[in-house]
Amino acid sequence: IDELLSEGVSGKRVFVRADLNVPLADGVITDDGRIRAVLPTVKALAEAGAKVVVASHLGRPKGAPDPAFSLLPAAERLGELLGAPVAFAQDTVGPAAHEAVDGLEPGQVAVIENLRFNAGETSKDDTERGEFADRLAALADVYVGDGFGAVHRKHASVYDLPARLPHYAGYLIATEVGVLKKLTDDVKRPYVVALGGAKVSDKLAVIDELLGKADRLLVGGGMAYTFLKAQGHEVGISLLQEDQIPTVTEYLERAAKNGVELVLPVDVVASTEFPDLKTKAPTEHVVVDADRIPADHEGLDIGPRTRELYASKLADAATVFWNGPMGVFEHPDYAEGTKAVAQALVDSDGFTVVGGGDSAAAVRTLGFDESAFGHISTGGGASLEYLEGKTLPGLAALED
Ligand code: 3PG
Repeated sequence: IDELLSEGVSGKRVFVRADLNVPLADGVITDDGRIRAVLPTVKALAEAGAKVVVASHLGRPKGAPDPAFSLLPAAERLGELLGAPVAFAQDTVGPAAHEAVDGLEPGQVAVIENLRFNAGETSKDDTERGEFADRLAALADVYVGDGFGAVHRKHASVYDLPARLPHYAGYLIATEVGVLKKLTDDVKRPYVVALGGAKVSDKLAVIDELLGKADRLLVGGGMAYTFLKAQGHEVGISLLQEDQIPTVTEYLERAAKNGVELVLPVDVVASTEFPDLKTKAPTEHVVVDADRIPADHEGLDIGPRTRELYASKLADAATVFWNGPMGVFEHPDYAEGTKAVAQALVDSDGFTVVGGGDSAAAVRTLGFDESAFGHISTGGGASLEYLEGKTLPGLAALED
């Protein structure tokens, strides 16, 4: 983007593909980290006199307008953070979008409606995506890719549009890639990874890769129960992916063979019912050893001994990557595990990276100071796929 700025953008229509896919509860943004992350790029372009057209997806609407997924709340927040009015177009490539863009003065910003209200955005068909990209291209003279959270998606605005316009990487993408490179090229050891989140099936490829790279892998969250089951423990009614047991068993064997310390919970906080995340009403819960989860209980967080164990395993790390909460952190009865891992990162002298929408949101909603972490990535799937060593369509399109 510095190159673009030095060439001059005054009066040019610059399309910024951002990732404003923020969590919403009843239409209210609960974590605006992704909006703040794109501010440097939007500000720099506006200050240089560009007519800035910001576009993003939000959620997973089904290729047609759906008010529940309108980008309006994100556009309003962007305006608040910029301290300047932001125009909002109620369609993406239709008359409203053209009117909003045509109405921009140099230095002004418009947001167009959710890209995924158009089937062409996510289509698997190259022609369909291309046609939508053509319509997007008609709105701009230059493309800036800065939606790091979406670079793993081969979508029209991420992959096809940059091929149609002069294209540049924004500040956020440049920062994210710079940080993640430190984890893939010549990582400083010990390299410790804490992985959580609900489903082990979402993390298979990254675990596969990390078993050849990390020194220690700490497992928590819902995915831990499939590992515990693979070790022969009963897990009660905890989240379990039965079909992944053979894969996980192979991971346990491979970790031992490769000298990777794969650490599982030794105790868990369990309950007979899933907590109410809205009322956050107190629940009945017990702390039990991980091999003694009662048949009618569900593990919802790592227990106190595990918290201490994981903190000790993180203490001497030179590099830490953390993705996925350790428990149902949205409820205070099950937030301690996630807090303990976040605190261990804060206390660490190593380079710490938090990746993933949920863990990044956890860090912020649990009240941690973001600046205490080396880097908080805006990418969930994107940062994982980067670490897997995959070619990411949105980055390849910018390098091209
Ligand atoms: C994310 O939240 O990880 C990104 O915004 C991508 O969203 P998606 O998984 O719906 O493509």
